[in-house]
Amino acid sequence: MSEPTSAIESVLVENRVFPPSEDTVKNARIAGMQAYEALCAEAEKDFEGFWARLARENLQWSRPFTQTLDESNAPFYKWFADGELNASANCLDRHIGTPVENKTAIIFEADDGAVTQVTYKELLARVGQFANALKARGVQKGDRVLIYMPMTIEGVVAMQACARIGATHSVVFGGFSAKALHERTIDAGAVAIITANYQLRGGKELPLKSIVDEALAMGGCDSVKTVLVYERTASAWNRVEGRDVTFTEALAGQSTECAPVPVGAEHPLFILYTSGSTGKPKGVQHSTGGYTLWARQTMLWTFDLQPSDVFWCTADIGWITGHTYVAYGPLAAGATQVVFEGVPTFPHAGRFWEMIERHKVSIFYTAPTAIRSLIKAADSDEKVHPKNWNLTSLRVLGSVGEPINPEAWMWYYRNVGGERCPIVDTFWQTENGGHVITPLPGATPLVPGSCTLPLPGIKAAIVDETGKDLPNGAGGMLVIKRPWPSMIRTIWGDPERFKKSYFPEEMGGTIYLAGDGAVRSEDRGYFRITGRIDDVLNVSGHRMGTMEIESALVAKTDLVAEAAVVGRPDDLTGEAIVAFVVLKRPVPTGEEAKQLANELRNWVAKEIGPIAKPKDIRFGENLPKTRSGKIMRRLLRSLAKGEAITQDTSTLENPTILDQLAKTN
Ligand code: PRX
Repeated sequence: MSEPTSAIESVLVENRVFPPSEDTVKNARIAGMQAYEALCAEAEKDFEGFWARLARENLQWSRPFTQTLDESNAPFYKWFADGELNASANCLDRHIGTPVENKTAIIFEADDGAVTQVTYKELLARVGQFANALKARGVQKGDRVLIYMPMTIEGVVAMQACARIGATHSVVFGGFSAKALHERTIDAGAVAIITANYQLRGGKELPLKSIVDEALAMGGCDSVKTVLVYERTASAWNRVEGRDVTFTEALAGQSTECAPVPVGAEHPLFILYTSGSTGKPKGVQHSTGGYTLWARQTMLWTFDLQPSDVFWCTADIGWITGHTYVAYGPLAAGATQVVFEGVPTFPHAGRFWEMIERHKVSIFYTAPTAIRSLIKAADSDEKVHPKNWNLTSLRVLGSVGEPINPEAWMWYYRNVGGERCPIVDTFWQTENGGHVITPLPGATPLVPGSCTLPLPGIKAAIVDETGKDLPNGAGGMLVIKRPWPSMIRTIWGDPERFKKSYFPEEMGGTIYLAGDGAVRSEDRGYFRITGRIDDVLNVSGHRMGTMEIESALVAKTDLVAEAAVVGRPDDLTGEAIVAFVVLKRPVPTGEEAKQLANELRNWVAKEIGPIAKPKDIRFGENLPKTRSGKIMRRLLRSLAKGEAITQDTSTLENPTILDQLAKTN
């Protein structure tokens, strides 16, 4: 990268611009802004032709498609609908007989530092064998399979094996509770659950299988016939006869060859649950054709993937980033990738930098929260500062999941990227399938804190409530005006909610509403995401619905009468959860308040998972409400931030509750 054109260290208005170096441009897949603009122009001129070309170039079709986009039942868009393919074949079989077959597909580093590698050929054999084991247990095309696994090669194999036989997987992050797992198992109607006895994180052994048992014991999960257990550790676990089978038992005698089952392009590859505005998570359904196309294409465009790269995305397979940029994208693109089981701070907070050096990582993709926590660690302990490791293998850096503040961007750029590596600040969502707004390493001049411009073919815009375009500089709602192949197809089992959540009638019912606020810069038209405009929080890059946490709190019926949850900005986690709680007893103070707050935090961890624990719990005898009984959330947001109340509070029944709710416990 060349020198910034302006070196003003401003946080409020970002003036620094970092154009790509000549060298980066020269060797890039999309070389320079003209190349980017040419692709945009191609999509503009012949939208369907553009996507059809990419679908043919990126994917191997067992039956070619003849129709590109079917908008007849909008917003239930169909892409490449009469074509047939298999996602696993497009990640593995495609490389057999090419120089990639003996290339390392995955470098796995375990929590304890042990390293295992598999080549593409070996991975294909393992996926084939696992697919045969699933078939032997009666799993068929169209069935749903829940995956509750640690970050391991086995986790990726499980996902690929489902795809291979046309079963739809639904991965549940290993940090979610039994209750969350239960809810998802029932909603998806899963026939099997793939799990491990334990997971290893930060030197600790954490249970998975016993949580599956607990979830299934909650009842209503009769559809589940099999639980496959990967014995990650030697520790004992409880076996339910007739239902549970170990990986070793299931794989014994199974052939490593399993022909991939061709499925229609619209066949659901997976369902991934995410938080929305209500208490019930949404099962985001993705397709096989459009999704796999974008997983591969964005690997090539956004990361400028070259054959010699070593790619490392630190996301867990339980999130969309781990689906697209661990389980599918890197494999479809024939990359060598690092898969990491552990956490960035164990055994020390230099683990990421040490691993980049050890595995010669050239493309590194992580979340702002991780960067911020590692900045903090390096500030307090020189020994874990990235300067202690050789990071010269790096050439592209990425950021995902939440806005990256310019300070963190600059630190990442200087201390990790050596002022040499472009940072791609990729904006996208579970519903998008892959990147939608992002810089391109060899083209886009970078502005810290901005995700810059939409990828070719993505018609992103900023509009008002009626769908009218807003000029640069005016904040509004982020929308995508035309469908794109990797977009969400529906909410599993709830098409009405799909329409209502993403395609507002006031905007005509066919435009995708992202749920984020955004603004475009006056000079370049660059997008900057200003945060969610709905009741969704983003804590450490994890999406949480305020209603979900409220429902969990009021489920503690012996203690809680009412609860309201809001977010407040947090230097480390982006946003922090603040809960305002009315108890079925007098407002506690002092030690009692602290103890009750802790009890509620642990309760939420049990109901949803530790990531949903409120950082701050406040007690009051009531919540601030309007005369019609509506909770004044704006007031709560001010209280959460510790701001002085400037809103009109004359309608409050009891203004003294504001003083109560202002106190943290
Ligand atoms: O608010 C945006 C934020 O994360 C939300 C999507 O969360 P999820 O579906 O869990 O997917 C995260 C990983 C793709 C968005 O609505 N978000 C994601 N990336 C960015 C971002 N906010 C700002 N900048 C980003 N690069």
